[in-house]
Amino acid sequence: MVDFDETSSGDVPDRASGRARTVGVILAGGIGARMGLDIPKQLVPIAGKTSLEHTAGIFQDCGFIDEVLVMMDPGSIPRARELLTQAHYPKITGILAGGRDRNETSFLALREIADPTAKVVFHDAVRPLIDAGIIKACIDALDTYAAVDTAIPSADTIIEVDEHDVIRAIPPRASLRRGQTPQAFRWETLMRAYVLARQDPAFAATDDCSVVLKYQPDVPIIVVPGHEANIKITHPIDIHLADKLFQLKHQSTGPVPLPTSTLRGVAVVVLGGSSGIGAELARQLEEEGADVVCHSRGGSGTFVEDRASVKAALASAAARFGKIDHVVLTAGVLTVGELVTLTDEQLQHDVGVNLMAAFVVAQEAHAYLSESQGSLLLYSSSSYTRGRAKYTVYSATKAALVNLTQALADEWSADRIRVNCISPSRTATPMREKAFGVEEKNTLVQAATVARSSLQVLASDSTGQVFDVRLPQTDPLLTELEPVR
Ligand code: CTP
Repeated sequence: MVDFDETSSGDVPDRASGRARTVGVILAGGIGARMGLDIPKQLVPIAGKTSLEHTAGIFQDCGFIDEVLVMMDPGSIPRARELLTQAHYPKITGILAGGRDRNETSFLALREIADPTAKVVFHDAVRPLIDAGIIKACIDALDTYAAVDTAIPSADTIIEVDEHDVIRAIPPRASLRRGQTPQAFRWETLMRAYVLARQDPAFAATDDCSVVLKYQPDVPIIVVPGHEANIKITHPIDIHLADKLFQLKHQSTGPVPLPTSTLRGVAVVVLGGSSGIGAELARQLEEEGADVVCHSRGGSGTFVEDRASVKAALASAAARFGKIDHVVLTAGVLTVGELVTLTDEQLQHDVGVNLMAAFVVAQEAHAYLSESQGSLLLYSSSSYTRGRAKYTVYSATKAALVNLTQALADEWSADRIRVNCISPSRTATPMREKAFGVEEKNTLVQAATVARSSLQVLASDSTGQVFDVRLPQTDPLLTELEPVR
């Protein structure tokens, strides 16, 4: 049992501004038993980073969060400390051991914060797709209410069953919501609820709002809208869903203003940059102040699948710029035809340019990128998700590049080299025109759009990710996934 006195030892900052101290608590004390892995699910990489880093990063970047407390599975604290460095997450004031269950973890966080005037925002570390807009809505709601939940309507009918799985009740769906996090509270309200809860031998809950509902029944708990994409990673399938949702999120975020300062003066080698996306990318990079060199078959006589050729191209770029920050491989070939009609020579050529080249370029670039802690950028195609008749070699090699991106990002994370992949849908390039003739312009993504997205990826800190670039109107999911503001 804990009383209020026990909580009063914390460091309460002086808030001359009058604005309540606002603390984000990342709940990462669980082990993810339902996921069935040998590491807690918050440490599983998704879209290039662990869930823990994604959520901590979002709270770190929220202007309305003053500090962040991470409550961690005790056995994983050293790993969390490695991942969440002070340099990258300066708002983190502590990485502490969580409790035996989620509620004990929340209670321990409250006890650590120990500030009756604070606003506290609890968020599951395993909801990495949270949007800053939802966090803000929770904090704003605390100006009027003492407790806030986040929830979405339920598309499914929710049924209540007894211990024999026989339906006991079917509450009207219109009044049902599915609870998510964040859940936000005035510290004092939640602490009062926990003090009473901890005196109750029958206490059982799985979230913090239940504690307020039961032990502070006079306190209204307001609900702010969550988002379908704000899923909780619980079962193995959720890793795949979250991975895809991250791709869509990046796509829907659209043309984010480019942090151009990060591209000024960087040295970029574009392999296959004589036309199409590569040429456009080189042009845009130069506009942003980067040092760019293009090597291609038609230009410098560089064959991307040939090791000696790649080695020489990279060495000359390094000699010219003194370093190589990014290597971009845009070369690709598309032979349309039934597999049985393709000759050995065609197979070897297409697999060579589309796939073997990526292995060779990656191997040859590793030392330079390791030195600069830079990145490798590859190009897949929207056809990677589903092979198509007469595209066998193209779609199979493009699918392999996605796998390579994920594997290499993981393999090179210790070297701090980022590896990403752009997956454009049908793009207006000379390669496409050669295969399909002239097509209606407004049905194709423009090379300049793909290049712009590529610049954003180079300037970002993403790794292991596949960025889709599509015509916006072709995918209704995009509007669905627009971030909540
Ligand atoms: N959590 C926590 N402390 C605990 C248990 C859970 O901080 N003792 C956190 C989890 O780390 C997670 C969130 O609460 O971010 C949601 O809980 P849940 O999905 O149930 O996570 P786990 O308990 O890890 O999963 P499982 O029930 O499958 O073991």
